[in-house]
Amino acid sequence: MSLHLLRHDAYVNGAWVQAKDRRTFDVHNPSTGALVGTVPDMGRNDTRDAIAAAQQAWPAWRALTAKERAVVLRRWFSLIMEHRDALAHLMSCESGKVISESLGEVTYGAAFVEWFAEEGKRAYGDVIPPHTRDRRLVVIRQGIGVVAAISPWNFPLAMITRKVAPALAAGCPVVIKPPAETPCTALALAVLAEAAGVPAGVYNTVTSTRSDEVGRELCENPTVRKLSFTGSTAVGKQLMAQCAPTLTKLSLELGGNAPFIVFDDADLDAAVQGAIQSKFRHNGQTCVCANRLLVQRGVYDAFVARFTDAVASLRSGDVLDPSVQVGPLISLKALGKVQGLVEDAVQHGAAVLHGGRVRDGLFFEPTVLGNVTSDMRVAGEEVFGPVAPVFRFETEAEAIALANNTVYGLAAYFYSRDVGRCWRVAEALEFGMVGINEGLISTELAPFGGVKESGMGREGSRQGLDAYLETKYLCFGGV
Ligand code: SIN
Repeated sequence: MSLHLLRHDAYVNGAWVQAKDRRTFDVHNPSTGALVGTVPDMGRNDTRDAIAAAQQAWPAWRALTAKERAVVLRRWFSLIMEHRDALAHLMSCESGKVISESLGEVTYGAAFVEWFAEEGKRAYGDVIPPHTRDRRLVVIRQGIGVVAAISPWNFPLAMITRKVAPALAAGCPVVIKPPAETPCTALALAVLAEAAGVPAGVYNTVTSTRSDEVGRELCENPTVRKLSFTGSTAVGKQLMAQCAPTLTKLSLELGGNAPFIVFDDADLDAAVQGAIQSKFRHNGQTCVCANRLLVQRGVYDAFVARFTDAVASLRSGDVLDPSVQVGPLISLKALGKVQGLVEDAVQHGAAVLHGGRVRDGLFFEPTVLGNVTSDMRVAGEEVFGPVAPVFRFETEAEAIALANNTVYGLAAYFYSRDVGRCWRVAEALEFGMVGINEGLISTELAPFGGVKESGMGREGSRQGLDAYLETKYLCFGGV
């Protein structure tokens, strides 16, 4: 059975609905400018209704056993995989992600549903040896309650499933606010959740361009017990302040400034391949993309020459062509930022070794900048585009100091064949995730998240369920 995935209504309380004030917005393809769809532009009242529906649906959903919820999640997983091609096509059209990566994202996103369907059965508690003979001490773990999930445009599907699957597995209903750039993939996921048998009110999707208004309701409504957000550090801080009055619990996956270090003893072919994968994934628009390439003096020239050749051979163009590796940027604003970072670097003495210019529309040439130094904007800011700035360093200590010289702490990567150095550097890097001789580290099996201003909490893995569980201590007396 193939379901119709492109919807023009939002999904609240098991019904496909318009905004109360009938407002709508258009979604455009960043590659071509073509109209992808028109969806409801919901406001604060619509969000309040979705939260109320979720609260009403909570008792019945949490009363199911984890095994019963797993059956529903497992059906959702199967439906996502059955609709992999259609979902990837829709995702590429609204986000500008190349089709090979969109197909990969559907598989990656579905894997969270499959993983948490099982992991929900393992929300174990504790039995504590008591301190008196007549008592028994037990710890149980229970779903936290209504969960709000605010997801980003760069992973239109996987960042929803990474939040929603553990919430549902833990017995929590959800209200999802997808980004204004990619609401159609989010609504397609809701079609599949409904078909999988997720009960009315347990799964709600509120589409909107009014992020401030909707975000405020999700933070301030006391019914919402948990907010999970992926996006910029600036917005994460704003949401945290808005959650303070109600002490709504938070998981925040925020910005990054990933160092990618190549030591003199690295396997250079592997390092070049890893740098291309890490830097140019979704055209540089992921939080874990290599942001600064730090290369030791002894291999600087050789690495830069090979890396520049590899960048020059990247194919950009029609995102639906399976051989295309690089698509457009998401918006004019993003394009302007990338252009500004390159201009600033050049003004301060960086050399453009490849690319450096806007092509057409929202396409920016895959770019390599040499002789980059710490005083350039590109050293401190998240690039979020296809620009690879290369820095030169002399010693291991200098590389670590340079790498850690950022307010961010999400992902870091380094290449070395010295086992002792691998342990030393891995332990010294102040980041939540470290790739050692590996440029692609994301998987549903491992904890994803950052330190410092890259956020708090972990998603995926067994830790990913914790975010949606409260711990309750039971003290039995008079035994
Ligand atoms: C992100 O960039 O927000 C997520 C990247 C990933 O899951 O690998």
